[in-house]
Amino acid sequence: MSSGEGGRRSAQWFGAEGRSGMIYRSWMRNQGFGAEVFDGRRVIGIASTWSELAPCNAHLDRVAEAVKRGVWQAGGFPLEFPVMATGETLIRPTAMFYRNLLALQAEELIRANPLDGVVLLSGCDKTTPGLLMGAASVDLPAVMVTGGPMLNGKYRGQDVGSGTHVWKFEAEMKAGRMTAAECAVAEGCMARSNGHCMTMGTASTMACVAEALGMQLPGSATWPAVDARRFEVAQEAGRRIVAMVDEDLRPSAIMTRAAFENAIRANAAIGGSTNAIVHLLALAGRLGVELALDDFDALARPVPTVVNLMPSGRFLMEDFCYAGGLPVVLRQLADAGLLNADATTVTGASVGENVAGAECFDAEVITPLDEPFQPAGTGTAVLRGNLCPGGAVIKQSAASPELLTHRGRAVVFDTPEEYHAVCDDPETDIAADDVIVIRGAGPRGYPGMPEVANVPLPAKLLKAGVTDMVRVCDGRMSGTGYGTVVLHVTPEAAVGGPLALVRTGDTIELDVPGRSLTLDVPDDELARRREAWQEPPAAADSGYAWLYTEHVLQADRGADFGFLVGSRGAAVPRESH
Ligand code: FES
Ligand code: MG
Repeated sequence: MSSGEGGRRSAQWFGAEGRSGMIYRSWMRNQGFGAEVFDGRRVIGIASTWSELAPCNAHLDRVAEAVKRGVWQAGGFPLEFPVMATGETLIRPTAMFYRNLLALQAEELIRANPLDGVVLLSGCDKTTPGLLMGAASVDLPAVMVTGGPMLNGKYRGQDVGSGTHVWKFEAEMKAGRMTAAECAVAEGCMARSNGHCMTMGTASTMACVAEALGMQLPGSATWPAVDARRFEVAQEAGRRIVAMVDEDLRPSAIMTRAAFENAIRANAAIGGSTNAIVHLLALAGRLGVELALDDFDALARPVPTVVNLMPSGRFLMEDFCYAGGLPVVLRQLADAGLLNADATTVTGASVGENVAGAECFDAEVITPLDEPFQPAGTGTAVLRGNLCPGGAVIKQSAASPELLTHRGRAVVFDTPEEYHAVCDDPETDIAADDVIVIRGAGPRGYPGMPEVANVPLPAKLLKAGVTDMVRVCDGRMSGTGYGTVVLHVTPEAAVGGPLALVRTGDTIELDVPGRSLTLDVPDDELARRREAWQEPPAAADSGYAWLYTEHVLQADRGADFGFLVGSRGAAVPRESH
């Protein structure tokens, strides 16, 4: 509870009498705070995923300073605290392995401390959903401030997109069109300021999703990390959270089913990452909002993609920002009746009110809805079939149109490593119209459901000019990746999903318009293979990996931990002294 019996939560610490109160206040004063901060003002936590090991979030300490300014201005008492930084680039086996741990930390730290409200500072991919999940499970007033994208990458006069160009440069190098020395220069040009990936990868996607959900201030998703207005909006969030505590405006009142529908449609309109699906399913689970994989297909179908950003398009987040940012997209959706315009947001006003005057300043970057960058129905599709009874997804806009309907011979690899060991071998027995199956990359199998699905094509085919092939995997793909890649095949192979039964030489049929993924093997043969299937040994019998593999749910439930689904509230725990 943020208010009610006993007043604010923070008062149960700082307003306490006797020995306990003395302990709570005295030690805080070692930071130089005067007694006046304990006068009953609202205490605002700033949950920061700052870390030098998470480069995308390495400037969040400065964003936190701006938030603090705003909290002080509004008469609150800001206290910054660290939460696990799940940086995408360095963490192994994958940052996704730790998203739930970040959410668990955030939830527990918010509840355990004298906080009345919280500002969530995120940036890199998993930090945004992780913090939202944690905050949802406590349900104290919360506002998110994402750290903003890097400036556009620039190499030899060209725009270079983080992530997206890694795949491009690698393919160019393998095909002999780029030297290693040129690549070394290019890698420095790709990341040239603080901030998260400036393509429409998962970080930018989740920043926009958080804004569309109503959890961050309008326009907040797109200001570059180094833009003065990033710090201005952070300061505004600091002021706003103090008022939200008084209004008792909580995540559960903002992240309703209507808000999720808005986020899904916004994600379609921006051409966002497939990872948003997994994160939104997990987040909905925390809030008790009914949301299923098929909702993503149904809700997105009438929505064209209007934002022309890499990996599907040409531009980058800086351009999107200067064109007017997400408010323009939300306003366009509202005008077309594709937005639940009366959904509440952190501003206290509805999303429709927030974006009513949003103007587009560059119709090439944010196209009109009736002359879209990509037509409706070309977004992320949800597939069903005997190979994925729990569903699978494919990002059509990142795929090759001619491969969206394809029948081919399966070439099966039990792990991504097994594929990587042969893919550069000129003798490798893989042809351009084969279907590359990578399994063992699901939540339990890897473990952690890494972004390994868009494996590079075999070198001999790249040299021959092949640019895309159908790939099928129980893992994920980076939001900056592209290709005709079927992702999140559920149930995963490691728990005995049909993907575990595929053999090299089988035929797989992909029919995206028909929304199906079929293994063309008779049922009785599949039953025989199932008899012979043996569950792979567990990845660990102790430690966090054990906890993870024992409790992780499948992708259709967002790969959350079963024991973290739902909300556990903000009741003040028992005395510590
Ligand atoms: Fe952190 Fe892309 S690697 S946002
Ligand atoms: Mg990513």
